[in-house]
Amino acid sequence: MEDRPRVYGWPTSKNGYTIQEVPSGTKRFRKAIVIGAGASGLSFAKFQQERMIDFECVIYEKNDEVSGTWTENRYPGCACDIPSVTYQYPWELKIWSRFYAYAPEILEYFKHVADKHGLRKFIKLQHEVIHAQWDNQSGKWCVKVRNLTDGTEFDDTADVLVNASGIFNYWQWPNIKGRKDFKGIVVHSANYPTDLDLAGKRVAVVGTGASGLQLTAALQPVVSHLYTWIRSGTWITSSFGSTFAGPDGGNFQYSKEQKEKFIHKPDVYLKYIKDVEKSLSDPLAVLKNTPITHYAQEFSLSLMKDKLRDHPDLLEALTPTTFPVGCKRRTPGNGYLEAITQSNVTTYCKASLDELTEEGFIDPNGNKVEIDAIVFATGFNTTWVPRFPIIANGKNLQDIYAENALSYMGVAAPYMPNYFTFYGPYSPIGQSSVLPMMDVFSRWILQMIEKMQIEDIKSLTPKKTVIEDYGEHTKLLIKRFVWDAPCRSWMKAGSIETPPSSYAGTRTQVMELLAQPRFEDFDIEYKNQNRWQWLGNGFSIHDVDGSDNTWFWGTLKESIVAKASSEQKNGF
Ligand SMILES: Cc1cc2nc3c(=O)[nH]c(=O)nc-3n(C[C@H](O)[C@H](O)[C@H](O)COP(=O)(O)OP(=O)(O)OC[C@H]3O[C@@H](n4cnc5c(N)ncnc54)[C@H](O)[C@@H]3O)c2cc1C
Ligand SMILES: NC(=O)c1ccc[n+]([C@@H]2O[C@H](COP(=O)([O-])OP(=O)(O)OC[C@H]3O[C@@H](n4cnc5c(N)ncnc54)[C@H](OP(=O)(O)O)[C@@H]3O)[C@@H](O)[C@H]2O)c1
Repeated sequence: MEDRPRVYGWPTSKNGYTIQEVPSGTKRFRKAIVIGAGASGLSFAKFQQERMIDFECVIYEKNDEVSGTWTENRYPGCACDIPSVTYQYPWELKIWSRFYAYAPEILEYFKHVADKHGLRKFIKLQHEVIHAQWDNQSGKWCVKVRNLTDGTEFDDTADVLVNASGIFNYWQWPNIKGRKDFKGIVVHSANYPTDLDLAGKRVAVVGTGASGLQLTAALQPVVSHLYTWIRSGTWITSSFGSTFAGPDGGNFQYSKEQKEKFIHKPDVYLKYIKDVEKSLSDPLAVLKNTPITHYAQEFSLSLMKDKLRDHPDLLEALTPTTFPVGCKRRTPGNGYLEAITQSNVTTYCKASLDELTEEGFIDPNGNKVEIDAIVFATGFNTTWVPRFPIIANGKNLQDIYAENALSYMGVAAPYMPNYFTFYGPYSPIGQSSVLPMMDVFSRWILQMIEKMQIEDIKSLTPKKTVIEDYGEHTKLLIKRFVWDAPCRSWMKAGSIETPPSSYAGTRTQVMELLAQPRFEDFDIEYKNQNRWQWLGNGFSIHDVDGSDNTWFWGTLKESIVAKASSEQKNGF
């Protein structure tokens, strides 16, 4: 076909404009660099492998294994806080050992996914991305990568940069006086050494978030003495998943019979998954002052009252008075309430850890307490400010987000061409299990890239006004949601006053919103000055690839074709 202009003497250029000798629908080569091989990166790897052609995907992962959160969080008791049957990819169902699986089983699951689907070939482990800069002339991201095995650095370039680096990946030490003076063992929940044995030791656990609750429950039975602080209240509840949970909303192991049934009757398993999901995702459960949020609070309070009936001081300190269930992420807190009532536990109520010494800490009464180890379960930097410079059009996303972390629906960022994200600011971070949502992000990003491939687009950048309107809508609507109540949570970057940076709506809504990209929300720059060059030589790819290009008459079924040809043979 390329030869036809010469054969037929057709002109191919005029005033500098040239016809591309390809049919429309041709996919031009594009490359994406992905940061992170956690659950998000693996979802992307799987979908791009199945769907894309003329496409290269390189995933840089700083750790020595895939799975992100579940590789890094190795502390005793680390588990899923939502039912495991909903914390799996819809395309890779597993029969879980427990209702809330522990971290090692979840880690194995993601490793299995990477192996079974052949995703490791896209992933470069122990490679950390340390800088990214958009070059407008070439229309490419130049990404600086550090090889963590030998310390060397190199540049890689790609048309698209996908940030799947996780919202709970930037763990940080709390700002506590004397923290560096303490001479004993100091660990953070997200960087817990696998060989650390605290049996028989005097241990302080700081934090009553999901990590702190799990650590307290797991360490109490083995340490000689445990010290904890309840700085502010938190609702301990599985509430919405409780219909399917064990007694008191607790964990349980699936029986051999249940597992056999799930294996041999996939429909039964699927119905169970869907029922559990439904029980977690009641849209009214995330709004303030609905009957269901009141019910959740009553459920949680009665459970807490029951388990702490002989400990009114703990109950008072732990019961939130200013915010409903869900403002801080719900956690079943399995075993926590039981643990803090044991005789080897000292809990400082309505108090924070403010000062460490060489031997231990200063308690709220000013006494010096000696300990052997301190475990900080004090959370992550959730400010959205990237950990390395991401620069385009003279702007650094670090500066933009330090001032105002507002993205395009959590999947793209202001001023950043061809930059797509999993779970950016104002994405559905509070709406149930994240895994099914990750697939939605993957498909959305791949549709964006396919448009670039077909229409020979150089860059897609979300329009500033679209992002501003999204912010105005979201920040007003979010006031109706439980996350906006006066609690301190990671969703508000640890401050009570900051508005929660979640999508304001249900997961159903955001899934529908992101099913198809809204290209009208983007500034589009084409590779060629003439935006229509991609129409090529006037043919569609379906004219030349053997497709049915008379489809508008309807589609022939094979049997009809066979019947017609046999009738022809028989002389009709
Ligand atoms: C202890 C814990 C328990 C949780 N439990 C639940 C739960 O029960 N249910 C739920 O829905 N969510 C839970 N979460 C949230 C959890 O983070 C998500 O469910 C999910 O695992 C996030 O996957 P991700 O791939 O987006 O991010 P991550 O798992 O954080 O993966 C990001 C990856 O990017 C890599 N990376 C980061 N920066 C760079 C860089 N510069 N260069 C190269 N690589 C980089 C990291 O090493 C990491 O592997 C939990 C979080 C924690 C911390
Ligand atoms: N699957 C799970 O069960 C699971 C487990 C772990 C984590 N996660 C996820 O990861 C998110 C982060 O959880 P996280 O528990 O690691 O962090 P987090 O929710 O941010 O909790 C940090 C805790 O540290 C406390 N804290 C900080 N400084 C303190 C001080 N000086 N003295 C006393 N207390 C102090 C905070 O108190 P305040 O409440 O007063 O701020 C808070 O209770 C969770 O919300 C969840 O989404 C899930």
